Amino acid sequence: MTTRPRNDLSPHKIIALATAFWSSKVLLSALELGVFRALAERPRTGEELRAELGIEERGTADLFDSLVSLELLDRSDSGVYRNAPHADAYLNPLRPEGDISGYLAFLNAGFAGWSRLTEGVPSGDRLDFADALSSSGGGANGGGGAPAAAGTETDALGAAFPTPDQITGFVRAVAGYSAAAYRALATEFDWTPVGTVVDVGCSEGALLAHLLGAHPHLHGIGFDLPGVKDRFTGYLDDAGLAGRARFVAGDILTDPLPSGDVLFLGRVLRDGNRDIEQLLIRKAYDALGPGGSLLIHGALLDDDRHVTTTGPLTGLNDSLGAADGLGRTGAECREWMAKAGFRNITSNHLDGPEHMVVGIK
Ligand SMILES: C[S@@+](CC[C@H](N)C(=O)[O-])C[C@H]1O[C@@H](n2cnc3c(N)ncnc32)[C@H](O)[C@@H]1O
Repeated sequence: MTTRPRNDLSPHKIIALATAFWSSKVLLSALELGVFRALAERPRTGEELRAELGIEERGTADLFDSLVSLELLDRSDSGVYRNAPHADAYLNPLRPEGDISGYLAFLNAGFAGWSRLTEGVPSGDRLDFADALSSSGGGANGGGGAPAAAGTETDALGAAFPTPDQITGFVRAVAGYSAAAYRALATEFDWTPVGTVVDVGCSEGALLAHLLGAHPHLHGIGFDLPGVKDRFTGYLDDAGLAGRARFVAGDILTDPLPSGDVLFLGRVLRDGNRDIEQLLIRKAYDALGPGGSLLIHGALLDDDRHVTTTGPLTGLNDSLGAADGLGRTGAECREWMAKAGFRNITSNHLDGPEHMVVGIK
């Protein structure tokens, strides 16, 4: 291996990293100001956009042109701005099925918490994400954004899901975040011999709707807390799939899991501790028949914990917010699955930090 002479090294790799929050905040503030919504309605000149958003002239051209250089907006030769393809696909509130604005609003509200990282990591305290969830439309109760002391029961991230009236904004946004991973799940696995797929912790049913839509021979069972039932049946009904999907209410910790040919555990492991994660894998094993498959999907760290940055950063975000939400590697998942009795265990990348680990009973 050749080493580049030291005087060839530019400081700008480090400076670009140190100013990365400028780009991040430009995106998040543009979202708050309604830039993408205004341009989803129609393309506008800088002047029209400024007037629509009700903002002063100073700094706006730089804000809009930063978004152009970040490939979130396009600007024509005549100075007309429009959403660039990625922003049009994922930041367009007029097309809610792919919109991840709620998830970004959650990240934006976590910005203040991350600014306390220097104190948070040494103290072992958790950040209370309740405010962040409220801003994203997920609506966890209480809050104030203060750090929650390590070892306390408060778990705003965990609490964001179980209550039906808290589901809409945040969970819809998580479905948008997962859109490309869901598309990969529909194609990266051989669904031909599968009859019934069970999604444990199915939430509204976005994953099942996607799979059943892509594979007309599949039937689905969504398993989640009883309060989620109406949301699930409504979602599958709207997708025209209610005839091929049913909901089973239960508690993953105390009830047996429904059986099927394939069983999904998607991000239900995330807020649990290591013992609970392994318990769920054993319960999944018990629920499957011989030859059945367990698919675990979610953000995984790479096995050596140094290749992908998004993996450990997502893990850090989780451990700052959730009771026991430490990131896990694919190797840990494979080890727990092997311990439960699964064989032919493989892991594949889906999208961003999202991976799937598959094992056969
Ligand atoms: C983070 S969401 C994951 C949703 C979906 N599987 C995904 O990958 O996006 C966690 C889901 O687990 C469900 N859940 C949490 N605790 C549960 C429990 N004790 N029993 C059954 N479901 C539970 C929540 O209601 C929620 O729908």
